[in-house]
Amino acid sequence: MSARKIIIDTDPGQDDAVAILLALASPDEIDLLGLTCVAGNVPLPLTARNARIVCELANRPDVPVFAGCDRPMGRALVTAEHVHGKSGLDGPALPEPTMPLQDAHAVDFLIDTLRREAPGTVTLVPIGPLTNIATAFTRAPDIVGRVHEIVLMGGAYFQVGNITPAAEFNIHVDPQAAAIVFRAGAPITVMPLDVTHRALVTRPRNDAFRALGNAVGVAVAEMTDFFERFDREKYGSDGAPLHDPCTIAYLLEPALFTGRHVNVEIETASELTMGMTVADWWRVTGRAPNAMFMGDVNADGFFTLLTERLARL
Ligand code: BDR
Ligand code: CA
Repeated sequence: MSARKIIIDTDPGQDDAVAILLALASPDEIDLLGLTCVAGNVPLPLTARNARIVCELANRPDVPVFAGCDRPMGRALVTAEHVHGKSGLDGPALPEPTMPLQDAHAVDFLIDTLRREAPGTVTLVPIGPLTNIATAFTRAPDIVGRVHEIVLMGGAYFQVGNITPAAEFNIHVDPQAAAIVFRAGAPITVMPLDVTHRALVTRPRNDAFRALGNAVGVAVAEMTDFFERFDREKYGSDGAPLHDPCTIAYLLEPALFTGRHVNVEIETASELTMGMTVADWWRVTGRAPNAMFMGDVNADGFFTLLTERLARL
């Protein structure tokens, strides 16, 4: 089987970085066409910088990196330096990137790629706010039917929220964009906090990264060392949740995850619950299912896969 073509839409972020590294470590299964950057964890100039730092860490300066939307569709940008540090990638000391940012806008790259490639052959993997994807769908509705699948990190049902009591960060930052994407009609698989809060970098898992003996292993250990302090203090959890890599792990080994095909609506009106993902997990509404909403992960299997792949870089 040929490698699956994907575009990762991202706001790195340490966990975004691990997702990108996992994709780059898996060329037999994943053909990474490009990284499209969006404002989210930190402002756009930093996410576009961090994405290139990660490509260079993996010795892949050939991966095209595009800057996209610098603010949500209808709201002021909310960032998460309190989680990810001032740079968004605090932890390891990594060199400034020398590879160039592409001239094209990320939204143009998304539209052009989906129009150029055969219908049903490109998977979108959004792991930040959905601004770039929704802007592309709004500007070029013809591309929606050409998407093979959207595998995104965002939302929560049982875990409810992390940036507000009711909402997960990626969806909260741009709820209008999320509503457009969830209503677009493309097949969607969601990795919510319900899953990602089980993918915790415990001390032995972090030690296993560090022991890989390559620069990537040390950098990933230092990244998770940095960003675990937030979740340890807040949730009392055993380590940093690797939210975004769950999307790539799903592409590689879908059997690691279980969930339900249900209706998911996005709250865009109430300031109190703005960006809440109202997932009809118990199927009580009769609303048509529009997303595969994951609920659990085999965490040991996930870390075995991740560690084995990172060793290849
Ligand atoms: C999501 O928000 C960001 O802080 C992470 O990178 C992840 O994409 C988790 O809520
Ligand atoms: Ca992210």
